[in-house]
Amino acid sequence: MHCTRKITDDLVWIGGSDRKLSLFEAVYPVPAGVSYNSYLLKDEKTVLFDTVDKAISGLFFDNLKYELGGRKLDYVVIHHMEPDHSATLWELLTLYPEVKVVTSAKALTMITQFFEALPAERVVTVKEGDTLETGKHTYSFVAAPMVHWPEVMMSYDKADRILFTADAFGTFGALDGAIFADEVDFEREYLDEARRYYCNIVGKYGAQVQAVLKKAAGLDIQMICPLHGFVWRRDIDKLLAKYDCWSRYEPEEKGVLIAYTSVYGGTQAAAELAAAKLREKGVTVKMYDASMTHTSYMVAEAFRFSHVIFATTTYNNGIFIKMEELLHDLVAHSFSGKTVGIIENGSWAPAAGKLIRAMLEPCKGITILDEQVTIKSAMKPENEAAMDAMLGRIAAEAVD
Ligand code: FEO
Repeated sequence: MHCTRKITDDLVWIGGSDRKLSLFEAVYPVPAGVSYNSYLLKDEKTVLFDTVDKAISGLFFDNLKYELGGRKLDYVVIHHMEPDHSATLWELLTLYPEVKVVTSAKALTMITQFFEALPAERVVTVKEGDTLETGKHTYSFVAAPMVHWPEVMMSYDKADRILFTADAFGTFGALDGAIFADEVDFEREYLDEARRYYCNIVGKYGAQVQAVLKKAAGLDIQMICPLHGFVWRRDIDKLLAKYDCWSRYEPEEKGVLIAYTSVYGGTQAAAELAAAKLREKGVTVKMYDASMTHTSYMVAEAFRFSHVIFATTTYNNGIFIKMEELLHDLVAHSFSGKTVGIIENGSWAPAAGKLIRAMLEPCKGITILDEQVTIKSAMKPENEAAMDAMLGRIAAEAVD
């Protein structure tokens, strides 16, 4: 059994998709699945670019055997040692005892940590600027630390002008038979999941992504081969522009994310009123109940929109736990460059607003509006002036 896709005359995709996984990295829901990409070069030398997650190891090894067609495997290039790509490495090294591992010094340390130390004769340690010649192709290596782990490197094929980008430019979502992004309606079907993937997996490391984008700007790139999601051969400039925007923490579009938590409905009613008032002013609004929605979706929307309103009750003299979880996740992912409004509720001692301000203190470039809405149990007519003042500030900036 095999299922492979031709990428170029001598490069083939031999990865696969997992639709059974509930939580990627034990955290992120992936209702549409996820792909693990691996690529095989069949030049004078054969080169495997990364292995795959254990979940698809059977298909992967069948694909590899089929595409090698009895040829020896000369090299495996390891761009990233996270086990969603490297869990099958040791099995590969056992099945193909002649293959040499080409990787960074940091990745080599991780191979020893995850598995065992490799004998020196099985390793080619490379650093930025080093090259690997395979016949027609010469690969140069580009360091990409913290995109998404410290050992990460990318490879650039000078012959076909292909950049192998590890986790960068990936997306959540199974591939459904497609391998090129231009085979699907990416913007309609995958952009939201690409954003959620970027913001939650790599989003913390905007500065490091910017550093890699600067290196990429010096390369003539005709194709991008990531470890998740699709291969890009068209609209590469648009993809790079998205990454540039996200990694600068600039809003992708004007609009407001309203994330609320509400125990008995009072806070939700206030949030709904705020949403309706913003819509009346022509503002785009997306609303989420943070008790019901995984934080990864709201982290992605917080990256996407120019403004965020947090509406939450006070609970145990703190921020309601599901809202606190969201705020913690946003801070952990370097939430930056946005304007924030607050609606706090508390039946006897509202304190959530002050605590939200304290939680967001470490975030760079966040403007928290002084105009704050404080309600006690339920929104009352006397609270509307404060709400209108806050929404007026937001609408003045957030109308497209
Ligand atoms: Fe897809 Fe950082 O691993």
